[in-house]
Amino acid sequence: MTTRISTAPHRAESEARPALGGRGLVKRYGSETALSGVDIDITPGEAVAIVGPSGSGKSTLLHVLAGILPADSGEVWLGGRRVDTLGESARSELRRSEFGFVFQSGMLVAELTAEENAALPSLLAGVDRARALGEARSRLSELGLGGKERNRPGELSGGQAQRVAIARALAHRPSVIFADEPTGALDTRTGRDTMGALLASAAECGSAVVVVTHDRELAAGLPRTVSLRDGRIESDTCQAASVPAAGGTAP
Ligand SMILES: Nc1ncnc2c1ncn2[C@@H]1O[C@H](COP(=O)(O)OP(=O)(O)OP(=O)(O)O)[C@@H](O)[C@H]1O
Ligand SMILES: [Mg+2]
Repeated sequence: MTTRISTAPHRAESEARPALGGRGLVKRYGSETALSGVDIDITPGEAVAIVGPSGSGKSTLLHVLAGILPADSGEVWLGGRRVDTLGESARSELRRSEFGFVFQSGMLVAELTAEENAALPSLLAGVDRARALGEARSRLSELGLGGKERNRPGELSGGQAQRVAIARALAHRPSVIFADEPTGALDTRTGRDTMGALLASAAECGSAVVVVTHDRELAAGLPRTVSLRDGRIESDTCQAASVPAAGGTAP
């Protein structure tokens, strides 16, 4: 096995981030049309909420933009590069280097400590273990998890586990973080705190955030909301953001 050293974890803050764009995205599952012609542009560093009824295509859109699912037609662009036509290994490399993911239930590795989970993308990219763990610890501390570094996921609250997942998603300073109902398993207050932590950390890294949420109020706290219905964009609005501040108040 060859070990590739990625430079992504230490990307310069000033480096321009690529915009992400979807053009005419169509995705069908058999006779079911999940996306029927979606055009969307995510500018570098912006935070976008994706809302819509259950089954409207939110998760499908996220997965198509992230190169996890192939579209039936349409194009996905990252910067000046068309990425949906890349082969599986190039797409998986792109996911590792440019994208971060936070899902509804953190999906942490049960056997690893919080700091090991948070450092995982860097460790897999071949970053020196001491350095990767040191960076993970400082990210966890910024997220209010100082003192929990050696806890395993089973020894963390839901909100704390979700913050570890956020730290992990940010380990390699991705261009775009995709979050699918990241607060769905949390109570309202913990959910808002966690979303605040996600947005603040992403802003600090210069990462764009595309977050699916059922919580309309939470979506209203983000600068832009894209509303899907029946696989189409029903509305795309910008609003003054009032994201809850992420303090060191870990739940
Ligand atoms: N693997 C699949 N096989 C068949 N149909 C699917 C599959 N995944 C999604 N669908 C269908 O595609 C449509 C869009 O699904 P999607 O998961 O994108 O919705 P969603 O907006 O994320 O819903 P939710 O809010 O419930 O998570 C739905 O009608 C769903 O039943
Ligand atoms: Mg979904």
